[in-house]
Amino acid sequence: MFDKKLQDAFNGQINAELQSAYLYLAMASWLDSQSLPGMAGWMRMQAQEEVMHAMKFYDFVQERGGRVILTALETPQAEWESPLKAFEDTLTHERKVTSLIHNLVDLSIAEKDHAANAFLQWFVTEQVEEEANADQIVRFEEDDTDGADVVLVTYGITARVAQMGRELAQEQGVKVGMIRLIVVWPFPEKRISELAGKIKAFIVPEINYGQIVLEVERCAAGRAPAILVSHGGGGVHEPEAIAEAIVRAAK
Ligand SMILES: [Fe+2]
Repeated sequence: MFDKKLQDAFNGQINAELQSAYLYLAMASWLDSQSLPGMAGWMRMQAQEEVMHAMKFYDFVQERGGRVILTALETPQAEWESPLKAFEDTLTHERKVTSLIHNLVDLSIAEKDHAANAFLQWFVTEQVEEEANADQIVRFEEDDTDGADVVLVTYGITARVAQMGRELAQEQGVKVGMIRLIVVWPFPEKRISELAGKIKAFIVPEINYGQIVLEVERCAAGRAPAILVSHGGGGVHEPEAIAEAIVRAAK
């Protein structure tokens, strides 16, 4: 039989993993409501991974002849200040999960349950990876930013139309580079800050509430303006509007 103390703790972990899934799913839904399907998709995948974690604990309890007991989940948060805030919350949450896993490891040692300990090692490694991923998640592509007068900062579906606007501005002789964010958090703070000292302006075409432009502004710290190009009410941007903003900023 599976030790009662460990069984209770493992059941608690099933709840915690499902709680994580619930939180990430709530974030996915909120991101979708902000017209950020790329980020929402990423959160959905995280949610699925958490369900998979819960099932690993479920199977282990069963295999050991224990009994899985499910308990109530809390209602997750429904709204976030910004996508960045939501992504920051995932890291905070993962850190909490890591400490729960470590408590289980301590318990397995105290109870001299070597099988449970071996099982938990997978999660110990997994948590290291999850937190490291969050640190290395700064991912972006850069194009012609060296020597540029203006740098476009784009994310998601605005990248394509921004590229068209960029080409129109280049035809008018403007040196315009581009940073395409692959993820929004953590933000490429260092790079934006470096460029801010060298360029005339950042141009940020956004289809949502201008969260990215605020981040660019924060990183540029007044050394270069961050100019928002919002779409003309509903659809996507016009490349001409983006080109115009670039040309104006380059003067
Ligand atoms: Fe997990």
